[in-house]
Amino acid sequence: MKVVYMSMTGQTRRFVKKLNMNSLEIHPGNAFQEIFEPYIVIVPTYDCEVTEIMNDFIETGQNQQYLKGVAGSGNLNFNELFCYTAKDLAREYQVPLIHCFEFQGTDRDVQIIKEQVSELG
Ligand SMILES: Cc1cc2nc3c(=O)[nH]c(=O)nc-3n(C[C@H](O)[C@H](O)[C@H](O)COP(=O)(O)O)c2cc1C
Repeated sequence: MKVVYMSMTGQTRRFVKKLNMNSLEIHPGNAFQEIFEPYIVIVPTYDCEVTEIMNDFIETGQNQQYLKGVAGSGNLNFNELFCYTAKDLAREYQVPLIHCFEFQGTDRDVQIIKEQVSELG
């Protein structure tokens, strides 16, 4: 399973590094590339103008077929808006929301994602 992610201030990038999995960082310069293997998406939480590159990626070619789940990084101070980007993506593309965590995540968050990924197969 590949991890496809984006990061504006480095928190999600730091989290993904801790997963020690095959990963791909999406940025405006590479959003329209095709992938031919199963992946999960991990997104930070920002206005959709900021995160729409992830929609661009998912909707490129057949990429949506390989999307297996979504996780999010956010800040609990945003209360009901906590991790809404990941929640919106999971709903929009009809895949499981596998986990939401704060900032660069804890060891427990790493463990949860790894468990979820192995359940997804
Ligand atoms: C301008 C701005 C808006 C944010 N809005 C939200 C929000 O609505 N909900 C949330 O859970 N986190 C929100 N966050 C927190 C970030 O999503 C969080 O810090 C995340 O870990 C950042 O990941 P990154 O460093 O990979 O970009 C916001 C942060 C900033 C700077």
